[in-house]
Amino acid sequence: MSFRVLNNTISFYRKKCDTKKLLRYSSSATHTLKIAERIKQKRNEALLGGGQKRIDTQHKKGKLTARERITLFCDHGSFVEYDMFVEHTCTDFGMDKQKFPGDSVITGHGLVNGRPVYVFSQDFTVFGGSLSSAHAWKICKIMDQAILVGAPVVGLNDSGGARIQEGVASLAGYADIFQRNVLASGVVPQISLIMGPCAGGAVYSPAITDFTFMVEDTSYLFITGPEVVKSVTNEDVSQQELGGAKTHTSISGVAHNSFNNDVDALLQLRHFMGFLPQSNQFPTPVRMCDDPCHEDVPALDTVIPPSTTTPYDMLDVVLSIIDERDFFEIMPKYAKNIIIGFGRMNGRTVGIVGNQPKVAAGCLDINASVKAARFVRFCDAFNIPIITLVDVPGFLPGVTQEHSGIIRHGAKLLYAYAEATVPKLTVITRKGYGGAYDVMSSKHLRGDINYAWPSAEVAVMGAKGAVTILYRGKPDLDKREAEYIDAFGSPFPAAQKGFIDDIIEPRTTRWRLCRDLDLLETKKLTNPKKKHGNIPL
Ligand code: HXC
Repeated sequence: MSFRVLNNTISFYRKKCDTKKLLRYSSSATHTLKIAERIKQKRNEALLGGGQKRIDTQHKKGKLTARERITLFCDHGSFVEYDMFVEHTCTDFGMDKQKFPGDSVITGHGLVNGRPVYVFSQDFTVFGGSLSSAHAWKICKIMDQAILVGAPVVGLNDSGGARIQEGVASLAGYADIFQRNVLASGVVPQISLIMGPCAGGAVYSPAITDFTFMVEDTSYLFITGPEVVKSVTNEDVSQQELGGAKTHTSISGVAHNSFNNDVDALLQLRHFMGFLPQSNQFPTPVRMCDDPCHEDVPALDTVIPPSTTTPYDMLDVVLSIIDERDFFEIMPKYAKNIIIGFGRMNGRTVGIVGNQPKVAAGCLDINASVKAARFVRFCDAFNIPIITLVDVPGFLPGVTQEHSGIIRHGAKLLYAYAEATVPKLTVITRKGYGGAYDVMSSKHLRGDINYAWPSAEVAVMGAKGAVTILYRGKPDLDKREAEYIDAFGSPFPAAQKGFIDDIIEPRTTRWRLCRDLDLLETKKLTNPKKKHGNIPL
């Protein structure tokens, strides 16, 4: 109620000399005003989080506050906040005297590139962003709503972990979030951006989400910190070495990419969101495309070097077939022998998987298999067509690979491709050898349209290896190698059997794939009814 309305009503009763009504009205009006004042005060307190001093400390570390992050991430003025008045319920350790409206997380929804997204942003200025039961409950509320509505959930993580003062209640809160992460998996995209600490069991929520990004130098993820590591294993390691962005994007594969700072990360995240559908019930977003999709791309004719053993950059192929060379690469620093990421073709999002001949000849090893398998499964869960570019000499041989379970891990990629029902388009640019040929979205795993470039060779193995096995101890190995190349070193054997649909000039690849995607838009394929499959984990 405004002061103007209040004063007008009071003068009205005064004029009427209705003292009883005047008194009753002014007392209830005073109460209403008090509440209005309190709401305003609480809102202001909530806006200030843990106070200006802690905000300054946050800024000094090169970090934005939780609110600043939301402002940058969401379209201007679109964020709608929930639960600004929620407070923690802990009374131990004098906590009843330390309350902050909203507690240590800001939750709500906003628009990103005009589409709804649910967001939570942990506020490090309030108890180090630690997770109280109220904090967890706020996150669960938006996750539940995101599943109901069908919109992505984005978590901006910056937290000291479980709220120590709350004990087991905080642990329960984490489990409530994990349960929702699992239920939301494959229903709505879930993305974590780690912008500060994330330690202990807290790491498992980002680990379940579809994509985890990190901010360089200011964020880290680990189960136990350097001090515990030192006491248990006697290893000396810094926070960043143990769980910083470099570690997780290049060694452990826990994070999918990292960015220079908060601003860079949030802007990249906005860009990334543009590739994703809202949920598994929505088609992939389509963006207006000025890049011609009915024309040849002559540059593709010269990508493959004359010698079959000379490496080339598969990224050149990727960038030449997608719209506007706009490729959002996932895990670019990890298992570089395979490329995965999102692009668009004729405006429509596609997932790209490509062997990278530049690194380890593009062979499939454990890390590459797992990296690509999870990506293929994401695309399949969210109706994103998959384009596979094949130049693979096989699975990586070696004791370490065998002992570390290349059989089990390689099977993940096979499984992912075989169960995927989205449109699957495959282009063999050069080698397609052995089991790796089968795995890489071959016709036999329900590839919808499989092309080969004239430089393709589909065979059990390369000529040298084959001749050594077939003609051990025999003379004229060079001659026999030439015969083998003649028989198998071309796309014909596969084309003659219908295992590839056509041999195409490289320059025609883009428009053919765009045309095929149009055709396959109405593809309908379902797997046998089951509770869920049992992917070899
Ligand atoms: C309550 C916490 C807190 C926590 C930090 N704070 N972590 N309060 N519970 N877990 C408070 C601090 O008391 C301080 O309050 C403020 O947050 C900022 O913390 P600082 O230590 O001053 O900040 P900084 O030097 O940047 O260090 C950040 C930090 C450190 C590295 C995160 O605070 C830290 O080690 N915290 C404990 C981390 C931890 O062990 N968490 C439990 C993990 S186990 P004031 O009032 O001074 O501003 C876990 C289990 C989850 O999470 C299990 C799930 C299944």
